[in-house]
Amino acid sequence: MKITIDHVHVVEVGPRDGLQNEKVVIPTEAKIDYITALADAGLRTIEAGAFVSPKWVPQMADTAEVYRNIPKDPGVDYPVLVPNMKGLDRAIETGVKSISIFTAASDTFNKRNINMSIDESFANYAPVAARARAEGMRVRGYVSTAFGCPYEGDVAPEKVLEVSARLLDLGCYEVSVGDTIGVGTPVQVQGVIGMLLQVIPASKLAMHFHDTRGTALANTLAALEMGIATFDASSGGLGGCPYAPGASGNMATEDLVYMLEKMGIDTAVDLNLLVAASQIIAPYLDHPLPGRYLQACTRAAAPVASTTATVQ
Ligand code: HMG
Ligand code: MG
Repeated sequence: MKITIDHVHVVEVGPRDGLQNEKVVIPTEAKIDYITALADAGLRTIEAGAFVSPKWVPQMADTAEVYRNIPKDPGVDYPVLVPNMKGLDRAIETGVKSISIFTAASDTFNKRNINMSIDESFANYAPVAARARAEGMRVRGYVSTAFGCPYEGDVAPEKVLEVSARLLDLGCYEVSVGDTIGVGTPVQVQGVIGMLLQVIPASKLAMHFHDTRGTALANTLAALEMGIATFDASSGGLGGCPYAPGASGNMATEDLVYMLEKMGIDTAVDLNLLVAASQIIAPYLDHPLPGRYLQACTRAAAPVASTTATVQ
């Protein structure tokens, strides 16, 4: 394995990608405490919510209230998802400084997710990105279904490149390449990244791996070898996409940070404080968080039944 990267930028997406998929209603106050704790753990980019239609994703309906009440750490960027001009209006009104626009490499998924084909999404986003930039906002782009689509199956790497390049043409500072349904494998990841690097510098690429089939960390190593140094993850492994059937959580931030730090790659994230952040949100969920490092910590903290045989 040949990895030359010595620092990874972790983009925490738990409060958006994680919470958008939870069935239970999470109190706004709990979201604010969770985001605050993530910032305390050293995360410098924390996706705080989404100005999408509350009819489509009710879990994000309180994003404005969440955003306004986060005690802002001046060193932290708090991007929010924006699907259209109405979302941008809401973002501007709320004082948001950084947005993410999101499209896909497959038309069927995009239709289900934002009710637009890929081409329609670019017609929609062009004025959104231009206005956001004129307002001094940073704009990030997402390409979903880059490694497979729940409706169309295989996705051509050429399509991922085309959509990524179009997002950069709109002025995105970075494109996050999404394995929305967690089907990618390391060789495929290197193939897609190899294609992207023919045109796009590694510094403008991030990887967004969902861990549905347990390949996210292996895919991360494959991407690190290709020079990618920005990874999205969600604390405790929270998450999924409401419009991708069967999609489960993102790669757990704790698992990512543990692996990288033990490999001598700096993340600037405090693992203990990160676990504490996940433990703030965990009691509100109707299921245990799937992150492996977090589960190992929880097991270690639990009283262990004595295995010593009593000598009669
Ligand atoms: P539509 O129904 O075609 O939109 O939805 P519309 O323009 O016809 O509007 C319908 C209603 O929604 C109207 O209200 C609008 O005002 C309202 P009504 O007149 O019926 O009362 N509306 C809005 N309200 C608040 N904020 C807005 C907004 N826009 C319209 N911004 C739309 C189109 C894009 C709005 C909808 O499809 C939508 O919100 N989709 C978002 C779905 C979503 O959030 N998916 C999850 C995030 S993406 C993801 O998870 C993938 C990612 O993690 C990467 C990866 O893993 O691959 C990023
Ligand atoms: Mg996602």
